[in-house]
Amino acid sequence: MEAKTKSKSDSTEWHWWLLVAVIAVLVAGAVYITVWRDFHDLQNKLPPIRRPHGGVTQKYSDALRISTQFFDVQRSGRLENNQIEWRGDSGLQDGKEENIDLSKGLYDAGDLIKFGFPMAFTATILAWSILEYGQHMEAVKELKHAQESLKWITDYLINAHPSDYVLYIQVGDPDSDHKCWERPETSIEKRPAIQVNNSYPGSDVAAETAAAMAAASLVFKNHDPHYSKTLLKHAQKLFEFADSYPGIYSKSIPQIQDYYNSSGYLDELLWAASWLYHATRDGYYLSYVTVMHGNAFANWGNPTWLSWDDKLAGMQVLLSRVNFLNAEKEISIAENMNLQMYRRTAEDLMCRILMPSPTSQKTNGGLIWVDEWDSLQYSIATSFLAVVFSDYMFASKTPYLYCNGKLYEPMDLREFAVSQADYVLGNNPMNMSYLVGYGLNYPRYVHHRGASIPGNATTGCEDGFKWLNSTKPNPNLAIGAVVGGPFLNDTYIDSRNNSMQAEPTTYNSAFFVGLLSGLVTSSSVVRSFT
Ligand SMILES: *[C@@H]1O[C@H](CO)[C@@H](O)[C@H](O)[C@H]1NC(C)=O
Ligand SMILES: *[C@@H]1O[C@H](CO)[C@@H](O)[C@H](O)[C@H]1NC(C)=O
Ligand SMILES: *[C@@H]1O[C@H](CO)[C@@H](O)[C@H](O)[C@H]1NC(C)=O
Ligand SMILES: *[C@@H]1O[C@H](CO)[C@@H](O)[C@H](O)[C@H]1NC(C)=O
Ligand SMILES: *[C@@H]1O[C@H](CO)[C@@H](O)[C@H](O)[C@H]1NC(C)=O
Ligand SMILES: *[C@@H]1O[C@H](CO)[C@@H](O)[C@H](O)[C@H]1NC(C)=O
Ligand SMILES: *[C@@H]1O[C@H](CO)[C@@H](O)[C@H](O)[C@H]1NC(C)=O
Repeated sequence: MEAKTKSKSDSTEWHWWLLVAVIAVLVAGAVYITVWRDFHDLQNKLPPIRRPHGGVTQKYSDALRISTQFFDVQRSGRLENNQIEWRGDSGLQDGKEENIDLSKGLYDAGDLIKFGFPMAFTATILAWSILEYGQHMEAVKELKHAQESLKWITDYLINAHPSDYVLYIQVGDPDSDHKCWERPETSIEKRPAIQVNNSYPGSDVAAETAAAMAAASLVFKNHDPHYSKTLLKHAQKLFEFADSYPGIYSKSIPQIQDYYNSSGYLDELLWAASWLYHATRDGYYLSYVTVMHGNAFANWGNPTWLSWDDKLAGMQVLLSRVNFLNAEKEISIAENMNLQMYRRTAEDLMCRILMPSPTSQKTNGGLIWVDEWDSLQYSIATSFLAVVFSDYMFASKTPYLYCNGKLYEPMDLREFAVSQADYVLGNNPMNMSYLVGYGLNYPRYVHHRGASIPGNATTGCEDGFKWLNSTKPNPNLAIGAVVGGPFLNDTYIDSRNNSMQAEPTTYNSAFFVGLLSGLVTSSSVVRSFT
C-alpha cells in the first residue's frame, strides 16, 4: 500500500525531474563540446609526437653481438659449443661436498667466485630484457644466445635450491681466491658451497633468486613448459622462504660483506612479488606489493638508482607496466592507487635523468654518474629503464611525461638512452669504447684473471700475480666485458690493478644487453609477457 501511494506522488514530480535532467544533459553536452574543442585545438598546436624509425641500427646490432659473449667468457662448468677459444671446463667439482651439482653458473667478475646474489640479479635483468625485447634480439639473431645464457644461470639456481629452506648462495672462498691469481681451468683451491637456511636466513638473496626464476619461467613458458613450471615452483617456494624468515644474508654470512654487502631486503621482497605477479597473475602477489606492504616497503616519492643492491627503481618501472598496459578489472581501487604511486616514483626518476645538466648527476661528457666503483652500472641500468619506460609510453599511446611544468615525449627518454649507450661505445671525451672488443680503442688491461693469463701458462696461485703485474696487455680478449668505467671527470686509467674502473661484471653486461636490445630496432607494440 505504502509503495503505491508513493509512486503516485512520484509521478506528479516526474515531469519536473525530466526537465531538470534534459537541462543537465544539454549543459553537460555544451561543456563537453567546449572542452573537447579546446583539447582538440591544443592537440593541433602541439607537434605530433616523434617516434623511432623502424629498421635495425647497425652499430647497436654489432655491439649486441659482442655484449652477449661476455656470458660465454664467464661460464663455469662443462662447456657446450664453447666459442671462446681460451676458455675450457672448470668448477666441475663445485657442490660435490654437499652432494649437489653447482658446476654451472657464471663467475661474477674478474675473479673465480660464483656469488649468488649478483648472479641471480644478472639472470633477472637478462630475463626481463628477453621478455621486453626478444623480438628485437631475434631480428639480429641473438635471441637463442641470450636464452642459453639465461638457462646456464637458472640451471645452477635450480640446483642451488635443494630443499625449501636451503639456498646455496656462493661457491668459492673469496678471501683465499683473492690471494691467488689464476685461471678457472687450472685452479686447485678449495671451493666451499655456502648456504642460507632458516637459522641463517637471507631474504634478499632468496627473493632475488625468486625474481630471477619467476622472470625466467616466463621466458621459457612457450617452448619449454616443463622447465618453466619447475622454475616457477622454485620461485614461489623461495619467495615464501624469504618472506617467512626475514634476514639480511650478509649478516648471516658476514664474510660476504667485503664483496656484496646487502643494504636490506625489502626491495627484493617487492621485486620478487612483482615478478611472481607477472608470472602467475595471482592477486596475492599484487596485494603484497600494494595494500599489504607498499606503504611500508616501497619508499614512494624517493627515486633511487637501480643496482645489484637496490631493486626499487626496477620494480617501479615493472609495475608501471601493469598501470600502462594491463589495467585489469580485478585490481581494486586501493591497489590501483598504490600502482599509481609506483608509476609516479618511476616518473620522478625519468624526470631526474631528463633534466638538463648540471641539475642532474652527469659528467661533463653527459654520462649519468653516481659512484666511482663500477660507475657505468648506474648509467646503463637507468638507460635500460628509460628505454623500457619510453616503450610503455609508446605502446599505451601516452604522449607526454610532465616534469615540473615541462613536457617530455617518450622519444626524449629514448634519446637519453641513446646518448648513454653511445658514450659507452666511444662517444666520450676519452674516445674510448668501454665495451671490450667493440671499436678500435677499448681497454686492453681489463682486471680479469682468465683474460690476463696465457692459456698455456703453468703459474699457480701466488706466482700467478706476475700476470697481474705484467706491463703487457691481456693475452686473451674478455669479449663483451663492460668495464667499471670512467671517473666523474670522464677519465679512465687502463690498468689491470685498477679494479675500481677496469673490472667488468656480469650485471653490467645484462643491463647493456637489455639497453642495446631496446635500441637496436623499434616495435610499435610491446610484446605481452604471457
Ligand atoms: C645454515 O647455514 C649456516 C650458514 O651458512 C651454516 O653454518 C649451517 O651449518 C647451516 N645449517 C645447516 C643445518 O646446515
Ligand atoms: C654492511 O652493511 C651493513 C648494513 O646493512 C653495515 O652495518 C656494515 O658495516 C657493512 N659492512 C661493511 C664491511 O661495509
Ligand atoms: C677524441 O677525438 C676528437 C675528435 O676526433 C679529438 O679532437 C680529441 O682530441 C680526442 N680525444 C682524445 C682524448 O683522444
Ligand atoms: C705459450 O704460447 C705462446 C704463444 O703461442 C708462446 O709464445 C709461449 O712460448 C708458450 N709458453 C709456454 C710455456 O709454452
Ligand atoms: C706483483 O706485484 C706485487 C706488488 O708490486 C708484489 O708484491 C708481488 O711480489 C708481485 N708478484 C709477482 C709474482 O711478480
Ligand atoms: C680525474 O679524477 C680522478 C679521480 O678523482 C683523479 O685521480 C684524476 O687525477 C683526475 N684527472 C684529471 C685529469 O683531472
Ligand atoms: C697499478 O699499476 C700502476 C702501473 O701500471 C702503478 O702506477 C700503480 O701504483 C699500481 N697501483 C696499485 C694499487 O698497485
